[in-house]
Amino acid sequence: LDHFLYRDGHAFCEDVPLATLAEKVGTPAYVYTRATLRRHCREFRRAFAAHPTLPCFAVKANSNLAVLKDILAEGFGADLVSLGELERALAAGARPAELVFSGVGKRPDEIARALRVGLLSFNVESPAELELIATLAGEAGVVAPVALRLNPDIDAKTNEKIATGLYTTKFGLPEGDLPALATRIAQDKRLSLVGLACHIGSQILDIAPLAKAASRLAEQAQTLKTAGHRLSFVNMGGGLGIRYRDEKPPALDDYARALIGAVAPTGLRLLLEPGRVVAGNAGILLARVILVKRTPVRTFIILDAAMNDLIRPSLYDAWHAIEPESTKGTGAEAVCDFVGPVCETGDYLGKERRVKIPAAGDLFMIRGCGAYGASMASQYNTRPRAPEVLVDGDRWQIVRPRETLDDLLGPERAALAEGPLTS
Ligand SMILES: Cc1ncc(COP(=O)(O)O)c(C=O)c1O
Repeated sequence: LDHFLYRDGHAFCEDVPLATLAEKVGTPAYVYTRATLRRHCREFRRAFAAHPTLPCFAVKANSNLAVLKDILAEGFGADLVSLGELERALAAGARPAELVFSGVGKRPDEIARALRVGLLSFNVESPAELELIATLAGEAGVVAPVALRLNPDIDAKTNEKIATGLYTTKFGLPEGDLPALATRIAQDKRLSLVGLACHIGSQILDIAPLAKAASRLAEQAQTLKTAGHRLSFVNMGGGLGIRYRDEKPPALDDYARALIGAVAPTGLRLLLEPGRVVAGNAGILLARVILVKRTPVRTFIILDAAMNDLIRPSLYDAWHAIEPESTKGTGAEAVCDFVGPVCETGDYLGKERRVKIPAAGDLFMIRGCGAYGASMASQYNTRPRAPEVLVDGDRWQIVRPRETLDDLLGPERAALAEGPLTS
């Protein structure tokens, strides 16, 4: 459920007409609803209320500072995968003790900064990374809290580009490596083993692999506890799927029951790294029709939004609902492809959609763009990135302005002006 709805045939975000936003902010533009964001955060926390749980929002899903601030204010921590995301979380007011740092390739400068900040844990994904963290912690004179990320070799049954729980992917550590690494950590004063972690993929619609991974992780935690390691949490990552079209994602309560059921016997705190389930349906991409073009076999609706704004359809064949701002259109119905102006055949936002053929200037909202939308946007084709707008009731704010061509060209112009190459 979200707060994008129609009133008298026109689309609103909460109490703000999308047509007003398009006029004031221009298009394309990302629009987020605070009410939906808040509700998703509260429902998530309520579902896990029966067990000590810290949800750490996956900043990669939506890294806008205003959005992060709202989510952090709901009692979430944050899951980071880069120095940039760490600085974003801190700028949005994150508590360092509620931050976890994931990722298979953390650079020395990123680790050093995170050590200075003092996070809840580094999710360690390889023996080499563990050595690097130990060295840098030694240099900084601090103890690095680490969680070992298990790769349980479980098929999350999702798009292969976002499945992370199989041995064929670069993520995590095989089960067999855990005891030796735990011993290695226990013998090193620069390191402290605080937990185990796992994340088997994203947009997961079947609860079984998630439950299986949770049981496996809990089992490993129990074994390590029995061996004398004093863990404080198990981190089950993110991954819960959402409805974009007609998917039937697991209910939050069933998801929580499965995870808590697996983890409760360990007596450990539960950490989670939800992204999509919090932000996905709290945002849309608002776009305007540039023109309609027919070929002998297709009708193309060419929008001013493109794959650089929203790459999920091109990258994952993801399906996003595309709905008109006004239901009062009078065009004939036809099956159309929604595409952008980028010079790639792969630049599409939705294929084979039955719609009333619009006129140039008409507005459409592309639904389900609150996660992995703006955060994955690029400037391909030298297209400045779209602004982000946050709506709260009948008020709204531009929380990231539209980039300008000067933003894009300025630094390069300056480099040109500096003159020839130097050695
Ligand atoms: C380590 C990690 N945690 C959490 C997430 C968030 O996943 P989701 O948005 O599906 O909840 C991801 C995303 O892939 C991830 O890689």
